[in-house]
Amino acid sequence: MNPVIEAINNRRSIRSYETKPIPKDIINTIIEAGNRAPFTSITRSQPWRFVVIEDPEFKQKLLQTTLPFWKKCTEGMKETYPEIYKMGMSLYEAMDDPKDVVYYNAPVIIFVIGPANNAVSCALACENIMIAAQSFGLGSCYVGFGSTVKGNADVVQALELTDDEQIYGPIVLGYPKVNPSAAVASALESMGPNKKEPVTKWI
Ligand SMILES: Cc1cc2nc3c(=O)[nH]c(=O)nc-3n(C[C@H](O)[C@H](O)[C@H](O)COP(=O)(O)O)c2cc1C
Repeated sequence: MNPVIEAINNRRSIRSYETKPIPKDIINTIIEAGNRAPFTSITRSQPWRFVVIEDPEFKQKLLQTTLPFWKKCTEGMKETYPEIYKMGMSLYEAMDDPKDVVYYNAPVIIFVIGPANNAVSCALACENIMIAAQSFGLGSCYVGFGSTVKGNADVVQALELTDDEQIYGPIVLGYPKVNPSAAVASALESMGPNKKEPVTKWI
């Protein structure tokens, strides 16, 4: 099959990763693919920048910042979206320590950072990253919860986030875990989306 179509069709959000590091040249190639995404001509050049996080201590800092928000949101869905609450909590319970239900203990986290008013361009860069990752046999997940870091001044400083910037993604990357524990595998299975065929009207 056409390899681009194959990468697009086979990409799935991955939520369990091997600890195996990703070679730097592959990360750079993936970022280059993100950087090739289309962008509105108003900005004349790419509006985004990338921050690649591998440092375990910094990842812990990110998790400590975002996990309380994840817990609050998930708890808040107990009544309104009981199924989503159950899915989130069952994955959390099934995970070994450290229970990283935000960044899934992925070896690499890529923050795509750009203007708050240029979401479309930045989202296109995110998708390029995920498809490029897939083409290297890597798993990825766009983790919106992982962007809720503005409450931590150290993180904001390290990311060099300005007031008019927004985080897109972040996107976690890593080699998908071949054999997650039975409990994790079953929780992940229950999180699979209900995919539908394209809704298309031809005129
Ligand atoms: C804007 C956005 C935010 C998302 N945030 C999260 C998140 O915080 N955690 C997570 O596990 N998945 C997150 N996802 C991934 C979706 O759950 C996933 O893409 C969707 O269920 C479709 O599944 P698929 O990617 O396997 O096709 C997010 C996706 C998007 C587009």
